[in-house]
Amino acid sequence: MCGIVGIAGTAPTSERLIEGLRRLEYRGYDSAGIAVIQDGSVQRCRAEGKIRNLDNALRDNPIDGVTGIAHTRWATHGRPTTDNAHPHTSGNVAIVHNGIIENFKDLRDDLSAKGHVFVTETDSEVIAHLIDHHIQAGLSHDKAFAKTLSELRGAYGVAAIFADKPDTVMAARQGSPLAVGLAEDETFIGSDSMALAPFTRQIVYLEEGDWCIATPGDVRIFDASGKPANREVVISTAAAELVDKAGCRHFMEKEIHEQPESVGRTLSQYISAVDESFAFQPGELGLSKADRLISVACGTAFYAGATAKYWFERYAGLAVEADIASEYRYRQPVMPQHGAAIFISQSGETADTLAALRHCKQNGVRTIGVVNVPESSIAREADLHLRTLAGPEIGVASTKAYTAQLSALACIALAAASSRGKMTKEETAEKVRALLEVPRLINEVMLVEPQIEELARALTHHTDVLYLGRGQFFPLAMEGALKLKEIAYIHAEGYAAGELKHGPIALIEDGTPVIVIAPWDELFEKTISNVQEVAARGADVTLFTDPRGAKEAGDSVRTIIIPECDPIAQAIVAAIPIQLLAYHTAVLMGTDVDQPRNLAKSVTVE
Ligand code: F6R
Repeated sequence: MCGIVGIAGTAPTSERLIEGLRRLEYRGYDSAGIAVIQDGSVQRCRAEGKIRNLDNALRDNPIDGVTGIAHTRWATHGRPTTDNAHPHTSGNVAIVHNGIIENFKDLRDDLSAKGHVFVTETDSEVIAHLIDHHIQAGLSHDKAFAKTLSELRGAYGVAAIFADKPDTVMAARQGSPLAVGLAEDETFIGSDSMALAPFTRQIVYLEEGDWCIATPGDVRIFDASGKPANREVVISTAAAELVDKAGCRHFMEKEIHEQPESVGRTLSQYISAVDESFAFQPGELGLSKADRLISVACGTAFYAGATAKYWFERYAGLAVEADIASEYRYRQPVMPQHGAAIFISQSGETADTLAALRHCKQNGVRTIGVVNVPESSIAREADLHLRTLAGPEIGVASTKAYTAQLSALACIALAAASSRGKMTKEETAEKVRALLEVPRLINEVMLVEPQIEELARALTHHTDVLYLGRGQFFPLAMEGALKLKEIAYIHAEGYAAGELKHGPIALIEDGTPVIVIAPWDELFEKTISNVQEVAARGADVTLFTDPRGAKEAGDSVRTIIIPECDPIAQAIVAAIPIQLLAYHTAVLMGTDVDQPRNLAKSVTVE
């Protein structure tokens, strides 16, 4: 979502602000802008659409200064126009904001009544006016900034500059992440350490409610009560070079093809290959006596949790509730007495997942974060952080982070099974061997790509696609449908194959594409009966199955054959052709694959 960069520097900032923004592009945005202090006044440049439009606008009307702020906006209040793009100004103040100000209407009405003129449709503009108003009323800049924060309700990462205080950037965090980068004679503000990596590796993460005053080479941090706060300086691991596409057309293509390595890296962290066991410390997971596990996440990460539910129940005999974070946080969920809660997130900043984690912590539930970004809020706040080692995921549609989540969750579920006495040493060793095969099997399954491209071509002629699966392949059916919707803009539904007769079969007509994910297992015959039911009604079925399933299904149905393997490995391997199908369909549809319309990578508002 919105990205923020700020520099309190000693050298020109415009180009560096743009460089910082480029590193936040992956989060998704629809307009961008910068503001600098030049010759004692705030100068702005903003543009609708991509950063290259901003770059062009800057070339036409150059601005520069040693102090500046910059922003990529993902529209919430107000259309993605140049006028609504940040930074917003009032008098000598310019601000950028990530989040939602819930009481903006009251504040705006009040300030309008006092003579302030609003020129945008955004909630954020009110922040600039409020700071300006307090300065006009006689408060110092610091006090005006702090007073403004105390009057805002909602979520914000915010940064401000002042024409009459030209060496200072003030910034604050409440619900939206913000990092401060330290260098010898310059200080940086960024939505994450990736944005700051070209400038410095020394990072301080602001905590909830913190605000700061950054000047060249110095930062003073205050907590929510206004007391000076000491926050640890950490050395960021984010690479200074921009992650590139390594010769691929899109980041998504590159990330799909990286999965043998990303899955291998993640598995090897949790598996001890020498003694064929899982490499968790005794008692580390705290699941050996647990009576219930809650799994909370959003989108693709939720489907990873929903898949793992089958594993925890089947192998570890542990009851799991898999929940969508935006629902979980507003229910009155009954907390497990002797259980734990697991939070799955690529970014580690998803607002609903983070809020659900905090809710569980407040209620004394042990929390485990399965997170890809190690410096993120969820990773830092969970009682136990279990990393997925997917590496930076730039494509907005999650691919390698998903299979890394599945890999980590498989290890956790099987380690829990073993610590709960549900699996013998030999059974554990057999599963370890099966998981260690997964990177090779992913390489093998990539060979179906030409067939997938052909199927993708057929899908481009349709407006509705149905994905079906049973058991652990039901969440994958939903994930497949989500991928197709989000990047190819084709409506798709993922259904449990056995549920079809209870309604959705009414959608089937001549030629309706139906994708069925059913490697051979104990449910295979039942799924094939469902395939017959839709085929009899004219559906154009493609069955993703293994050689045994293909043999059982016979010639009556088109098959794409994926390798035969252990069921827990298959849930990871089968995800790859499903991702490839969405990818190739999107490429053929000519969509913006890496930054699909309306989507953000890191959803920091609820
Ligand atoms: C879909 C996708 C999203 C994310 C969801 C959660 O391809 O990427 O559905 O999975 O927004 O994001 P994280 O994992 O960062 O919490």
